[in-house]
Amino acid sequence: MQLEKIRHIGVLGGGVMGGGIAQVFAVAGYDVTIRDLTQEILDDTASEVCDRKWGLKRATERGKIGFDQAAAAIARVSYTTNLDAVSDCDLIIEAVPEKLELKQTVFKELDERVKPEAILASNTSGFVIAEIAAQVSSARLPLIVGMHFSNPVPVMRMCEVIYTQDTSPATIEAARGVAEKANRAVSLVKDMPGTYGFILNRVFAAAQREAMKIVEDGLASEEDVDKAMMTGRNWPAGFFGHRGGIGKQW
Ligand SMILES: NC(=O)c1ccc[n+]([C@@H]2O[C@H](COP(=O)([O-])OP(=O)(O)OC[C@H]3O[C@@H](n4cnc5c(N)ncnc54)[C@H](O)[C@@H]3O)[C@@H](O)[C@H]2O)c1
Repeated sequence: MQLEKIRHIGVLGGGVMGGGIAQVFAVAGYDVTIRDLTQEILDDTASEVCDRKWGLKRATERGKIGFDQAAAAIARVSYTTNLDAVSDCDLIIEAVPEKLELKQTVFKELDERVKPEAILASNTSGFVIAEIAAQVSSARLPLIVGMHFSNPVPVMRMCEVIYTQDTSPATIEAARGVAEKANRAVSLVKDMPGTYGFILNRVFAAAQREAMKIVEDGLASEEDVDKAMMTGRNWPAGFFGHRGGIGKQW
């Protein structure tokens, strides 16, 4: 699938990540179909996309996007519980919970339903992409890629594009291209068996281990570790503050 041919993007899972992913691609002009398991969850996803903290209504109030652009983006998103509704998508990004078996099943189901040239992408936080694709047909393997976004997606511009040994150059360029059209900053990462976390989560985990060791060894308190990182490196939240969802301000 060439970048120019991608018009319709499917998102599997309308949770914390799926809604944000759908939102940024709708703003970029793509038609987006979100599939989740119940209408109740999808209603919540729609509220997230339209009305909540990082949604399109607030984005217009903060001057990030025009009213007409937001309205057009909202109109481009459809919500469904029917998996077949994503069968004509050109690119499908799964954002279901971080369980390897579930992701393998989802990829297999998609492989059996979507058109032969459609790209399947995973927003896994760190599973090996080739393992997620373990049950897809060999014909699909060149069309498998990782697209790892960061939360909250409308604010955090990162997108790691992870390529396996089978991912074709055209698929890598298509994933990079759609992400850049959606104003993402793309980092390319090689898929590597025996690892977890790509760039973002590996570097963060390493730094977090050191921060915990410093506290365990009695060198400094959690508060002082956070203060040093936030005021010395401009981290928006400290490691311990981050764990609680928010960092203290000094
Ligand atoms: N939350 C984060 O900060 C974050 C950041 C980066 C990546 N991720 C990754 O993104 C993925 C999703 O995380 P999340 O936090 O959005 O999870 P979440 O639990 O908020 O949302 C997952 C959604 O998937 C739905 N779902 C389950 N099975 C499904 C299926 N078969 N088809 C369609 N939908 C299905 C669930 O009902 C739920 O609404 C995970 O792989 C996670 O590791 C999360």
